[in-house]
Amino acid sequence: MIASRQICEACGEELGELDPASVCPTCGGLLELVHDFSGLGDQAALRARFAQRRSAMLGTDASGVWRYREIVLPSVGDEQIVSHPEGNTPLLLRPAVSSWTGIERLLMKHEGHNPTGSFKDRGMTVAMTQARRVGASAVACASTGNTSASLAAYAAQAGLRALVFVPAGQVALGKLTQTLAYGARTLVVRGNFAQCLTLAREASDALNIQLLNSINPFRLEGQKSIVFEMLEQLDWDAPDWIVLPAGNLGNTSAFGKALREAHGLGLIQQMPRIAAVQAEGASPFAQAFREHFARTICVEPETIATAIRIGAPASWARAIRAIRETNGAVTSVSDAEILEAKAVIDAAGVGCEPASAASVAGVARLRREGTIGAHERVVAVLTGHLLKDPGALVRYHQETEPPPARANRPIEIDPRVSEVERILSAS
Ligand code: F0G
Repeated sequence: MIASRQICEACGEELGELDPASVCPTCGGLLELVHDFSGLGDQAALRARFAQRRSAMLGTDASGVWRYREIVLPSVGDEQIVSHPEGNTPLLLRPAVSSWTGIERLLMKHEGHNPTGSFKDRGMTVAMTQARRVGASAVACASTGNTSASLAAYAAQAGLRALVFVPAGQVALGKLTQTLAYGARTLVVRGNFAQCLTLAREASDALNIQLLNSINPFRLEGQKSIVFEMLEQLDWDAPDWIVLPAGNLGNTSAFGKALREAHGLGLIQQMPRIAAVQAEGASPFAQAFREHFARTICVEPETIATAIRIGAPASWARAIRAIRETNGAVTSVSDAEILEAKAVIDAAGVGCEPASAASVAGVARLRREGTIGAHERVVAVLTGHLLKDPGALVRYHQETEPPPARANRPIEIDPRVSEVERILSAS
């Protein structure tokens, strides 16, 4: 199998597939993986190969990432792979959510069904596999919580030491406790996510630790599989729009690369449009989109959606490419819109964490503004599980005064049937 190459997105410098550099050694630019797709056969043969692996109950083929290995990391050997397994997430249709957004038929790709409860596992299985391939003894990341939970779990499986940097007081309870439980050395930094990332980069360089943030190109290769799996679930009949929440912009970049490659290989005939949705208080990319990406913008971030509380996204240039190449859009939604979308998704029996609901809130906004048509085929990505952020749920349902319209307050009663009857007849 021919190895892939890593190419600097800024200066074009080329590195081998097994070079452990986290960024370009010459200019500091971000690296992109380029695979050799010659010899893959035609798209029908490739689709058939992917479909045939879907029946695997065990082993690498049972992973919703590695099932697409020819277009994720072709040269890797089965015995090198660190897989939970992950992926195989459902595509859900819930009329209550569709009608709230004003879209006739809104599908939700629920990445909260991954082993640690977020889409990060798809990137982490590839980045951890690569960390072992290059002989790393320790791995690190900065995180708003989900990446750290995922890194901790996969490092435990791989037998590598794990170090995570998280912003103090800004990580949801489910994520922080996962990270501790899986055994990562957890450093709570008095600063924001951008400061955590700078520290993680400096510490990784100084102490010879493999950095597994989404600036790491292998992470993006794994995250591309969200798109491949979604397209396969749609029988390779691409939707009009794919809508996702955006923070550090790794996932937006991965989606752009996945669509570029799927289209280039003939797996899909039509290019879907990507819509990236930010929280209003952390929306540098949405602001820049309104200015046609004339300049790079940084903000001091603030939002209840702590997963995307990021003011200086690292994958800026490659996310611009994803939006431009797909004729996409970037928008922002308020915390109130996020909370309402989340309450609708939760009450439909689906559930997700606040940042994930930004995608559905974004669909509703883009519909209202006329960017997305009511009859268009739209897939919104739910990036994390409901139980990631129990604090947000307690605040919304039990503590906010006056109660929000969709709050569901628990009712304390004496142990008597008459009490139950009283409550049932009142509601
Ligand atoms: N949704 C969730 C649930 C996330 O955890 C993140 C990012 C995003 C969306 C945005 O993805 O950064 O690729 O644009 N979480 C990172 C973390 C930053 O550390 O867990 P992005």
